[in-house]
Amino acid sequence: MAEQSFDKERPQDNSGTRGGADAFHRMPTGIEALDQLLDGGLPDGNSLLVQGAPGTGKTILGMQFLQAGIEQFDEPGMFVTFEEHPRRLYRDARALGWDFEAYERARQLLVVFTSPEAFLSELGSDNYGKLVREYGLRRVCVDSLTQFESYPSAMEQGRVRFERVINALRRDNLSVMMTRETESREAPFRVTPEEYLADTVIQLEYERMDETRDAQRVRTLEVMKNRGAAHSSSAHLFDIGVGGINLHRSSNL
Ligand SMILES: Nc1ncnc2c1ncn2[C@@H]1O[C@H](COP(=O)(O)OP(=O)(O)OP(=O)(O)O)[C@@H](O)[C@H]1O
Ligand SMILES: [Mg+2]
Repeated sequence: MAEQSFDKERPQDNSGTRGGADAFHRMPTGIEALDQLLDGGLPDGNSLLVQGAPGTGKTILGMQFLQAGIEQFDEPGMFVTFEEHPRRLYRDARALGWDFEAYERARQLLVVFTSPEAFLSELGSDNYGKLVREYGLRRVCVDSLTQFESYPSAMEQGRVRFERVINALRRDNLSVMMTRETESREAPFRVTPEEYLADTVIQLEYERMDETRDAQRVRTLEVMKNRGAAHSSSAHLFDIGVGGINLHRSSNL
């Protein structure tokens, strides 16, 4: 897979007519800077895994993925959360300038607050398929896969369970984003089954600029992998505020 550095000036190509080994049609996420890092968007059918330590912005990126789909492409989305009560999610979204309750009322968004056990059983039944049809869902965000790790099953290894989840979610060409909690990059790095199996992996960090204790922390986003297509090979600085994640595209580390 050819990797290339992010080029701010590079024109976008979402036409799906790229030649050679990079012939994927792109599905723009609607998060402009992210689409540029991914050379136009997610290759069609690619599942997106967003990883990072607590507080790095995973949930916000997930909300932004659904918000952008609704606002820019009229694509209804489903947010599956095992962690945050919908009321807190609405509150956090409101602070970022997004009215998730209005999206729900308009049936453009479905927020599902559930347990990993209940979610797995819904996936196994046709209830998920019914929701996909009823709402015309095009995007789904699962926040976060880490909750599955605390759900013991004698029958299934983590890898098998993750494969089952991802294959069930990917039906009807839905765009799937999953988040997953990882330790900081300062900790020993271990490649996990989720990283092998996801098609596109994004790593979020919130780290000190140098080793000194009073050094300022900076937020960075890096595309670690993008199966079948080119992507930026640098970490990019970002901040969080109204509008969600704002990537400083020209700032390379
Ligand atoms: N409205 C806002 N304005 C500015 N910064 C915000 C705002 N809302 C959240 N943040 C920042 O984003 C961080 C949390 O982001 P988020 O909840 O997406 O992290 P996370 O990676 O999902 O964390 P966790 O693993 O704990 O769920 C907060 O710690 C805060 O620094
Ligand atoms: Mg979160």
